[in-house]
Formats: sequence, structure tokens, C-alpha cells
Amino acid sequence: MRRFHRLAAALFTILVLVLVFRDSDRISTTSKSTISAAPTDLRQKSEHDGEVESSVTSSPVVPITTSTPAAEKAIVMGKLSNEDTSWVHEELPDWETHIYMVDNQSASLHTAANKGREAMPYLTFIVDHYRNLPKTIAFLHNHRGGFPEAWHNDAPDYLAKNMLDRLKIDYVQESGYVNLRCIHIPGCPDEVQMFRNPPEGHRTVEHNMLGPWQLFFSNTEPPPVIAAPCCAQFAVSRNQVLKRPLDDYEMYRKWLLETQLDDDTSGRVFEYLWHVIFGKEPVFCPDIEECWCKVFDRCDEVA
Ligand SMILES: *[C@@H]1O[C@H](CO)[C@@H](O)[C@H](O)[C@H]1NC(C)=O
Repeated sequence: MRRFHRLAAALFTILVLVLVFRDSDRISTTSKSTISAAPTDLRQKSEHDGEVESSVTSSPVVPITTSTPAAEKAIVMGKLSNEDTSWVHEELPDWETHIYMVDNQSASLHTAANKGREAMPYLTFIVDHYRNLPKTIAFLHNHRGGFPEAWHNDAPDYLAKNMLDRLKIDYVQESGYVNLRCIHIPGCPDEVQMFRNPPEGHRTVEHNMLGPWQLFFSNTEPPPVIAAPCCAQFAVSRNQVLKRPLDDYEMYRKWLLETQLDDDTSGRVFEYLWHVIFGKEPVFCPDIEECWCKVFDRCDEVA
């Protein structure tokens, strides 16, 4: 009898969890036709696994739901169907999560294509939640931590949890955008130089930056140098996201869906534009120790 009660309790808990997660993950998708290729981090895996990429699908445009109140803080990330992200709920339970499957159009949260690495899930989240954004949003990769896979996590043991636990939310609100990496290399002080002379063949991002720059920022003067610490993990405030109209984010995503650039390049174009999209100067390389102290609760650490 007791056993039965325990079983019933366990089943009930699972049911509740399923309902809760289904609800928190419910979003509207405005899928368009797609060409696919995976985020670099993600893609290597999927190629190894011999998964077939590329899908062309369309699904109806669903109106954005605003019935659930916006969260205080949320994590957004992309994943391949064979990647495990259960650590996010376990290790960062105070954060609402939005984890987009990039290679499975049947998943409840998915992107229209597997393109541009993490850029597609990030942009998809902003477009779909624009009218009901969380107050603070952390855009993360899906690896939990450790070396070498999470080498760019600037925190003890390269753990995402250690990074977010010490993130100063008030500072994110004040600053609008923070890069979650304080260590300058790679990225700072002068990574992307559109007019480098003489040009260097391997720098595919800077060779392909002028078009997106002009398109994204209404033809404003392209800067000689764009730089920020690498790797496209950052936190922003709702107010900062709202400083651009929804149309802008839709346009960025449309560009990503349509570009012929490979994922490595298109993903990296965004990697070096997020800070500009969110209001910072083209060169955004705060001093490391100042960053550890202001962005994170790590004032006692010296680089
Ligand atoms: C895709 O998602 C659906 C719905 O969650 C699931 O049933 C299916 O197994 C997934 N396919 C793959 C290849 O993971």
C-alpha cells in the first residue's frame, strides 16, 4: 500500500512537471523556409553522428502569446536533439529556460533552421518573445562546463553555473548588455577589421562583415575595428532589447536564414555584432578586473 502511494506521488510529480515545463516552453514560432547547417559547436557533433542536415519546411505563423507573465530572469540556448541540457534546470533552478532544438522541427521549441550556430535560437527567442520579454536574459551555449568543451566560460571550472551564480543582475540592468566573458582573448582588442590592409585570407568574418553591417545598422559608417571578448555568451536587460524595434530582430533573422555564408562565418558575424546590436560601441573591451568586479561578484580576483 505504501509502495502504491509512493508510486502515485511520483507519477503525480512527473505529471505536474510535464505540465509546468510544457507551459513554460510554450512559444509561438514564426517559421519560414529554411536551409540548414548546424551551429559550429553543435555541428561538429552532428556531423560525427552522421545526422542529415538540411530541411525545408514551413509552418503557420502563430500569434505571440502574452498570457503568461514575463519572467524575472531567463536563459536562452540552442541544442541538437542528441545533446543533454538537463543540467540547466538542475544547476540553475532560479532561471526560466528556453532551450531551442535546432535540428528537430517537431520539438516543442525549435528554430526554423539550424543555421548560424547559436545566433538562430537567440534571434528566434527575441522575435517570439519581444512583447513579453524576461527582465534579464542570459544567452548561453549549452555546455555545462569543463575543459576543453567550455574553455571560453570565464568562471571556475569553466562552469556555466559558476558564471551565472556570480552575475550581478543589477549591473546587467544598469548596463543593458554585458559580455559573460571578461578575458579579452580571443576577440579584443581589434579582432574584426573590415578594411585591414593588406587583407589576411583566413579572416573570413571581417571579409563578410560589411554587408551585414550596412543592412543591420541602416548604412551607418562601418567602423575600422569591431571587437569584444569572444564566444557569444552575454546577458541583456529587457529595456535594452526593446531599444530596437521588433522589425530589426526579424530582419537579422531573415538575413541569417537567407545568407549563403557557412555557419561558422554567419554565426561569427553575429558573435561580433551582439554588443553593437545591444547599444555598445564597436570596440567593447572593458578591463578584465573591472569586468570581474562590476559584471561578476569577483572583485578580489586579479588577472
Ligand atoms: C523530435 O522531437 C519529437 C517531439 O519531441 C520527438 O518525438 C522525436 O523523437 C524527435 N526526433 C529526434 C530525432 O530526436
